[in-house]
Amino acid sequence: MLRGLAGALALGVGAPWARWSGSPAGVPARVVDLRSDTVTKPGPPMRRAMAEAVVGDDDYGEDPTVRELQEKAAELLGVQQTLFVPTNTMANLICVMGHCQRRGSQLLLGQECHLHVYEQGGVAQIAGVHSHLIPDMPRGTLDLAELERVITRGLGSQYHPRCELVCLENTHCSSGGRVLPIDHLRQVHLLARTCGARVHLDGARLMNAAVALRVRPARIVEHCDSVSFCLSKGLGAPVGALVGGSKDFIEEAWRLRKALGGGMRQAGVLAAAALVGLADAEAVLQKDHENARTFARGLQELASPICSVDPAAVETNMVLVKVAGLSPAELCRHLQAVSAEEVAQTGRAVSVLLFPWTEQSVRAVWHRDVSTQDTELALKKWEFVLRQLRP
Ligand SMILES: Cc1ncc(COP(=O)(O)O)c(C=O)c1O
Repeated sequence: MLRGLAGALALGVGAPWARWSGSPAGVPARVVDLRSDTVTKPGPPMRRAMAEAVVGDDDYGEDPTVRELQEKAAELLGVQQTLFVPTNTMANLICVMGHCQRRGSQLLLGQECHLHVYEQGGVAQIAGVHSHLIPDMPRGTLDLAELERVITRGLGSQYHPRCELVCLENTHCSSGGRVLPIDHLRQVHLLARTCGARVHLDGARLMNAAVALRVRPARIVEHCDSVSFCLSKGLGAPVGALVGGSKDFIEEAWRLRKALGGGMRQAGVLAAAALVGLADAEAVLQKDHENARTFARGLQELASPICSVDPAAVETNMVLVKVAGLSPAELCRHLQAVSAEEVAQTGRAVSVLLFPWTEQSVRAVWHRDVSTQDTELALKKWEFVLRQLRP
């Protein structure tokens, strides 16, 4: 399976350095970057807040802006405390290490989840935790029957590793940003409890899930013992994530952050950006989801034999487009390129950046730097390319 960044960069598609500053006909090209919601750049209000942030040494717990962010986030997530860390990868690793302190600990998680596939196997190479993979269902949920089988098998067994933790991901990235139903979280929590295991939620895009479900993030986190929450995706901050949990858990998380080299000093300049991102997150993410849905419907209406999409599967800010007749990498190259023909025929120069996702699909992700107008431009560019490719 060819998924995400690694595969895309291997193919030289949509690489970060591939920026268009002009086009063949001298018309400046509009770049619509749909590779990921991590590509956002801080706008003037965020930069101003960063410049003006009151700071202190956060490793001594003395940065007032970091403290403000941690307190606001704790309330939002419905947890006793949160801890500011540099990345969501570190947040996930800290949580696994915090829950799996005994040698021989086992972690149960979905086979396609980010924590397993994209985080350098940190849980094995750094935490020494054994992972057991549970099949993902198409909507990003775990196969509960299999989860129960594995948990039950290990109960009282001297042969199987101790199941200490179950990890979930919401929204679920590899299934195209699908939202886990709250009842699924509840069921996983109940199952985990039967063997005394905890539940960690990779909530890198928890706000997207909350917006889609029209609930407060705390309602989702209620069924978890810890949560990671990314600030540098849809929220638009340049850096940062949070670990959330009980007061005792965060005390331990602080030690683990230190051990991993994630203790920061005047980190208020980063927390200030995150506070700006948090302030308008709900409205921004709602717009992102709307734009993603509009795009999916528009693409479906083109009724192309090359590209197909299931608008009903678009629950948040991601769209997975099935590709036939050419490789996803080739399609990405066509969408990125700006030709004299495009300018002559459409009067526009638009470069759409995307990642190939699997051998038969590309992924498009909406975020605060892609407007409704950009969405229309992307769709028009898609229409133009599909017309060109028609046999
Ligand atoms: C679901 C999920 N979890 C964790 C991460 C890791 O986040 P970071 O890049 O901040 O380490 C990502 C990044 O894309 C993600 O999509």
